[in-house]
Formats: sequence, structure tokens, C-alpha cells
Amino acid sequence: MLELAKNLTNTDMRIDILTVLPEMFDSPLNCSILKRAQNKGLVEFHVHNLRDYTTNKHRKVDDYPFGGEAGMVMQVEPIDRCITALKAEREYDEVIFTTPDGEVLDQPMANSMSMLNNLIILCGHYKGVDYRVREHLITKEISIGDYVLTGGELPAIIISDAIVRLIPGAIGDEQSALSDSFQDNLLAPPVYTRPAEYNGWKVPDILLSGHEARIADWRQEQALERTRRLRPDLLEK
Ligand code: ADE
Repeated sequence: MLELAKNLTNTDMRIDILTVLPEMFDSPLNCSILKRAQNKGLVEFHVHNLRDYTTNKHRKVDDYPFGGEAGMVMQVEPIDRCITALKAEREYDEVIFTTPDGEVLDQPMANSMSMLNNLIILCGHYKGVDYRVREHLITKEISIGDYVLTGGELPAIIISDAIVRLIPGAIGDEQSALSDSFQDNLLAPPVYTRPAEYNGWKVPDILLSGHEARIADWRQEQALERTRRLRPDLLEK
């Protein structure tokens, strides 16, 4: 059995998100699993506008890069002020930076982060952040895949979703997080629901047979077959 966040009890997880676009979180944090988990007291989200931590009149958070490259760079000061204020209140397990050159998010990483209590996620933007932020403040750098997005907000939402859904109680049927694709390095088997026949398209007979053990074998075979065909790399892990 996978060790999924067994040590967590209610209100144990807190995720602080640091961003220049706080409005991007309004809808994703207020729908579906992320909303339900907050309503159940399993997780608290706190979204911080980095502009609130600036000391300049125009609330500017970025500046030109030294050395004359194109693009703007996020400055150290507002990020440091925000992280320092948060760390004065509680200890953080990880200070995460979302960046395409980070470690690529996968299910084992989501599993282990779901057991943590306090996380900061800094959303990258513009050309990047002043590298001193990464050298001195960040403890973990995460990419959500080998492509470049405009900012780190969508990755922060994806990371949060992958973690929070694993907290016991966040999704209705706790077993279903265990049977997700990638748990055990296998893709999930196909699922069907009523009607058993639609337009002549039939549900596999085995699923209607009532033989629990044979159905379980069929699911395992299907998971293996789909993984071999679609993601053979997973079987090598
Ligand atoms: N910011 C821009 N692209 C990203 C990616 N692929 N993963 C994480 N953060 C990003």
C-alpha cells in the first residue's frame, strides 16, 4: 500500500503562493477538489501579491538584467520581504520555485510533498528571477514539463492540485487516488458506466460478470497492456 499522507490530520497543510498575478488563482482555488479540500479544513491557501512587498512608489517588482540581455527580471527585494515575513510566522518544509529548468513533477514527487505541512510556492515570471533568490531562498525547483509557459501561476496550480488531492478526505473515494495512473508506474485501466450498450458500442463482458477476482485480473492486464503500448518507459522505472 502506498504511503499517502497518512500522517496528515485536518488543517495540517498550508500553501502560500507568491505571485504578481493573484487573480489567476481566484477560479482554480474555488472549484472542485481544491475548493472541497479547503472547505473540509484539509488545506489552507494564502495567495500573496508580490507588489504588496515592494518599497517603490510604482510597486514595480522587476527590472532590467545586468549585462544587457533582453527581458525583465524579478527583483530579490519583494520576494525576500514576503518570504521573510512568512517564515517569521511558521516553519516551512519547502520553498518551491516554478521554473522550466527545475526537477520535473511526477507522481512520486507529488506523493512525498502531500505529506508536508507548510509550503511556499514562488511563481516565476518575465525572463526569470534574480538568481540570488534561487541561491539563497529557494529549497526546491519544479518544472511541470519540457515546455515554456508565460509564468509560474499555472504550474503552481497544477502542483497544488497534484498534492492536495492525495490528502486523505480530499477526494470522495480514498481508494481512487491509489488507483490513479502513475501510482505503481502503471497507466490506469479503462472505465465504463451505464448504459452497458450504446449505439452498438458494448462494455467488455467481464465487467458485467460480477466475478470480482477476474475483474481485478482484467484491470491489471489492461493496465499493463496500456502501459506497454503507450508509455513503455514507465515499466523500466
Ligand atoms: N514556468 C514557465 N514554464 C514552466 C514550466 N514548464 N514548469 C514550471 N514553471 C514554468
